[in-house]
Amino acid sequence: MPNVGPLVDGYGRIHNDLRLSVTESCNLRCIYCMDEDNVDFLKKSKYLSVSQLSELLRVFKKLGIKSIRLTGGEPLIRKEIVEIVKAISTIGFEDIALTTNGMLLQKYAKSLYAAGLKRVNLSIDSLDPLKFAKIRRRGDLETVLRGLEELKILGFADTKVNVVALKGFNDDEILNFIEFSIQYDVAVRFIELMPVGATDLYRDENVLTKNEILTIISSKWDFVENKRVNSPAVTYTGTEIPFTFGIISSMSESFCGDCNRLRLTADGFLRNCLFSTTESPLSQLLDEGANEREIETAVRTEIFRKRFGHGTDTVGYAVPNKPIYKVGG
Ligand code: 5AD
Ligand code: SF4
Repeated sequence: MPNVGPLVDGYGRIHNDLRLSVTESCNLRCIYCMDEDNVDFLKKSKYLSVSQLSELLRVFKKLGIKSIRLTGGEPLIRKEIVEIVKAISTIGFEDIALTTNGMLLQKYAKSLYAAGLKRVNLSIDSLDPLKFAKIRRRGDLETVLRGLEELKILGFADTKVNVVALKGFNDDEILNFIEFSIQYDVAVRFIELMPVGATDLYRDENVLTKNEILTIISSKWDFVENKRVNSPAVTYTGTEIPFTFGIISSMSESFCGDCNRLRLTADGFLRNCLFSTTESPLSQLLDEGANEREIETAVRTEIFRKRFGHGTDTVGYAVPNKPIYKVGG
């Protein structure tokens, strides 16, 4: 394992994008993510403090991390979220982004923008208020749409709307989402359902695949595929009207070959993949008073043992021992 230079895994993939979970808690209960009641969230006392986070982020910066995406759970639930964005800005990363369910955007978007947040991905799984309620169980579409408007007013660029594509739930809304993306001038990204939730919703037959989504869209629109650059999404642009949409096809067509991502949980465990079954306790190193060099070595070791692919399509695929809301989406 190299102990200088960029953060590489055993396949030579350079890692420069950190997904930073700041909480497991959430104000929604999406059917593909968690149960409706009695969800086992991490106690607040276990969260990395802002100063512990800053300490780790300084090491990540030295290791060549360029972009940070804040995730959860719902990151806007974390009381210190604005302070965390400020700390990330102060340390200095090229890009700071956030994935949110949008319920609290109206409240926080302005301060987050001032703190240095650059981009937002917003989850909206249905444009029908009743179906939204069925999929997300809590919250409401209207509040999320007002959050989206707020982002526009503030001047956030490159906002994306994430849609988990679910057969039998929102497969009849794919074309509506394309109309929506034209009307709101945002890119929509359809995400194939993945077996990473804590619920039993995942079944192969519930996955609306990339090819099925493309077939639906091509019944109405002409589009061309764009060249993919280090992003989990393949993107497409309309040829008659310039809308853009993306598809994250984790299940039908994996994109591990150029993966540049690593993940830190809210309690300070480093994971080399969303589907990982192992992790490294960086929080423990902090508690033991480890120096920068020791933390750096732990990070390099965790990334170096990354598997080439997540293998959801192979015999013997082991479901991650932590669901997505505990790892960070
Ligand atoms: N399958 C696919 N996407 C999921 N997300 C959460 N759980 C799942 C799942 N089981 C999505 C959220 C959000 C992103 C962080 O991950 O909807 O858009
Ligand atoms: Fe919350 Fe996101 Fe999970 Fe939905 S998918 S319950 S918004 S963490």
